[in-house]
Amino acid sequence: MSFPFADVSAHPLTDLLSLHGRAALVTGGAQGLGKAIALRLAEAGASVAIADLDEQRSHDAAQDITTRFGTPAIGVRMDVTDSASVEAAAMAATEAFGRLDVWVNNAGVFPSTPLLDMSDEAWDAVLAVNTTGVRNGAREAARRMASGGVVVNVISTAGFRGIAPGLSAYVASKHAARGLTKQLALELAPRGIRVLGVAPSYVPTEGNMAAAAAAMSAMGLADTDGGSMPAAMTQSLIGRLGTPDDIARVVLFCASDLSLIMTGSTLLADAGETI
Ligand SMILES: NC(=O)c1ccc[n+]([C@@H]2O[C@H](COP(=O)([O-])OP(=O)(O)OC[C@H]3O[C@@H](n4cnc5c(N)ncnc54)[C@H](O)[C@@H]3O)[C@@H](O)[C@H]2O)c1
Repeated sequence: MSFPFADVSAHPLTDLLSLHGRAALVTGGAQGLGKAIALRLAEAGASVAIADLDEQRSHDAAQDITTRFGTPAIGVRMDVTDSASVEAAAMAATEAFGRLDVWVNNAGVFPSTPLLDMSDEAWDAVLAVNTTGVRNGAREAARRMASGGVVVNVISTAGFRGIAPGLSAYVASKHAARGLTKQLALELAPRGIRVLGVAPSYVPTEGNMAAAAAAMSAMGLADTDGGSMPAAMTQSLIGRLGTPDDIARVVLFCASDLSLIMTGSTLLADAGETI
């Protein structure tokens, strides 16, 4: 049977998973989930730009990638809240690699502030990174994906439900990012750009260990395990939390041709927590 559109049924799985010849940019890629994502994209063959507020750590991460996989990688400073900064980083990536095929909007912040104590500025700062930052990234990516591509937004289970006291801005920002994922998929489909979301539950990372401790304190719970998430905040069905690499492999699936039929969805990568 033949189809009047790209049909990859006969392509070997290794080809469908491969990102050889493609270039990717990961925001917030210097540590945590972003670093793990960048490593898997590079292992799949992509050239990778690590774009992060922390310029030195973005260079270190790029160096690590090249050492491990021998693939081209660059580190570049980017503030996702600043559209000029996003544009400059995207330009650096396209100049270095000659193309742009995959853009991962991963940078995020998760401060815990009880609603009654939250200033307007604190609220806006979370939305600026987690929601406007996704818009800034997707817009810049779409302008540069001349022959189509994939945008992957790292959302959260906080894009599906309330999570814990103190996280109203975070939950609102992630619901908005999930909604944006649907709308961007609709708008960018005619340009051959797929847009997908990945929604992790709690995964221990450098940033989140500190945030978890703050959230527990907001709930009046003791931090008995150095910042690990208590049972009250995670309901894993498989008896364990996720690792950064668990999330990175789902992002790789989204970025690769394995997921060619998908756009607009947000995949829960949450150990069954949100069923
Ligand atoms: N770790 C988790 O449990 C978890 C769960 C669900 C969703 N997420 C989401 O995953 C993403 C990454 O989380 P993480 O745990 O790896 O965080 P992290 O704090 O360990 O790392 C975040 C990275 O983003 C960078 N960053 C922050 N603000 C930025 C900005 N304005 N511009 C550019 N870079 C910026 C930081 O410098 C850092 O390198 C976030 O969007 C977060 O909401 C994380």
